Amino acid sequence: MSFAIAIDGPAAAGKGTISKAVAAHFGFAHLDTGLLYRAVGAKVLDGVDPIEAARSLVAEDLENDALRTADVAQAASRIAVIGEVRAALVDFQRAFARRAGGAVLDGRDIGTVICPDAEAKLFVTASAEVRAARRHAELLGRGAEATLQEVLADVKERDARDAGRAEAPMVAAVDAVLIDTSSMSIEAAVTAAIAAVEAARK
Ligand code: DC
Repeated sequence: MSFAIAIDGPAAAGKGTISKAVAAHFGFAHLDTGLLYRAVGAKVLDGVDPIEAARSLVAEDLENDALRTADVAQAASRIAVIGEVRAALVDFQRAFARRAGGAVLDGRDIGTVICPDAEAKLFVTASAEVRAARRHAELLGRGAEATLQEVLADVKERDARDAGRAEAPMVAAVDAVLIDTSSMSIEAAVTAAIAAVEAARK
């Protein structure tokens, strides 16, 4: 039997951590759909045509540490506005959502476009300032150099593009449970997410 959990929201709101924890809790598979767009973005930075890159994407492309850089994130956000790129990635995501044994997918349009019939939907958000501070600490921890102001500008630019695009914009599904992690610990956010999914299972 399949059970799809859609977790959407902006960058650095805690989606990734929550998704992994929810998947582990329920014993479901997890797909970080941002990696698909990042893998396409990385190929485009290498000179490949974006639509061609999306159509020829293979699973190994997702296992690349270089996908975590800020440059690749921005490239991902830029190619994510292209309808043909998004279309090329739909089937893989929908098949993943309906795999036997349950699935958690996190991204921007999972509850609205990829899996509008998901059994549970969450929209995880936090203020831009809190998200920038978290991303900044993470970047410093990885040895990258950036000021808080640069990271905040980056976060806001990506939010505006992801939410403002015509094709599958980032927006909470009307039936999504909203979790604002601005002043929540990771543990509290994970507990709230699991409770929301439990409620949907009943
Ligand atoms: O979640 P992330 O930061 O890894 O995503 C990188 C970019 O990919 C994000 O800025 C917009 C795009 N994206 C998208 O358009 N749709 C998704 N489902 C996931 C990511």
